[in-house]
Amino acid sequence: MNTPGDTMPNTMVGKPSLPEKSSVSLSKQSQEFQKRILLIDQTIQQYLSTDGGEPAILYEAAHHLIKAGGKRLRSLITLLCCEAVGGDIARVLPITVAAELLQTASLIHDDIIDCDEIRRGVRTVHEKFGRDIALLAGDLLIAQAFRIIGEEGTPEMIAAMGTGGVRMAEGEAADLFMSPDHDDTFTKEHYLYMIERKTAAFMEEAAKIGAITGNATEAQKRALVEYGGCLGFAFQLRDDILDVEASQQVANKSTLSDLRLKRGNYPLVHALEVCTNKERHKCLAALTKGDYEVVLQIIEKYDAIQFTYKLAQSYVTQAKQALQDFGFQTQALLEQVADFTLVRDY
Ligand code: IPE
Ligand code: IPE
Ligand code: MG
Ligand code: MG
Repeated sequence: MNTPGDTMPNTMVGKPSLPEKSSVSLSKQSQEFQKRILLIDQTIQQYLSTDGGEPAILYEAAHHLIKAGGKRLRSLITLLCCEAVGGDIARVLPITVAAELLQTASLIHDDIIDCDEIRRGVRTVHEKFGRDIALLAGDLLIAQAFRIIGEEGTPEMIAAMGTGGVRMAEGEAADLFMSPDHDDTFTKEHYLYMIERKTAAFMEEAAKIGAITGNATEAQKRALVEYGGCLGFAFQLRDDILDVEASQQVANKSTLSDLRLKRGNYPLVHALEVCTNKERHKCLAALTKGDYEVVLQIIEKYDAIQFTYKLAQSYVTQAKQALQDFGFQTQALLEQVADFTLVRDY
């Protein structure tokens, strides 16, 4: 995959206009999405209704965020990539549950690492149930995800899910080590390395698992994996924009988390790269003190949000290009999902 970030100029001519802020959800966009997300939700619901064990609190904690909602984006990608090649929906639905369980586990653990309090509009699992049960709830969900794929899928699908999980853990660790105190890691290059693992890899594997379930050819699989990866980059760039600009209420999760934690965030890394040395020092000192107004001013001064948005747009274009020439049955829907990553505000 090309990384547009590598070739993008450091300064942009003209400000691209950002999308209108509104509560955009895929379900509201069209009935096609609504009916698929409903199917996924019903399958998840069915799974949860039979999923119990001891101690009950562990299961309650594991189900807490799943019941709170979420975009079900990885599950949807898996479903659409299976349908793209004419695959059987009934066969892929249990697999979409596994994708959602792994996604939820990663969020539970991420919220512990990031000390966040709100997720999917509700209290995070460690806030509500305590850190130890939250860690175990995440472990439980990971194990359950693999059990489902083991029962319903193939070894290739287990390997793909495993690769997604491994890369995500690597990316989360790379995120931890990306720090303004270390100039060699607080760069765009490291940022792209980090999000390729943290976010894009799981989207790639979600696409691959769907493609395998639908018996895709190798060429079809490659195209769908490329689509998933590019989508992941765009998605995370938009997430960074939301982190610095969205209100907690709209985003349904804690915001300004990246700045608070001094983590990799593309608008910030870009602003630091193009500002003067004096501003760079001022911004880094402000970050350390938690004086976010100063940081946000520098981000604003260098149009870093617009720059980030442009980069996200280029990944969306690349995602759509990957789908060309295959006559995928769900091409239009996959394209709409790619567009959604740019306008989403939660
Ligand atoms: C959050 O993913 C984790 C990131 C990679 C940014 P989502 O924003 O898709 O979270 P849910 O599943 O909809 O809650
Ligand atoms: C994404 O990390 C979470 C995972 C990949 C597990 P972030 O920390 O950047 O995402 P949010 O903002 O908490 O959703
Ligand atoms: Mg987080
Ligand atoms: Mg994090």
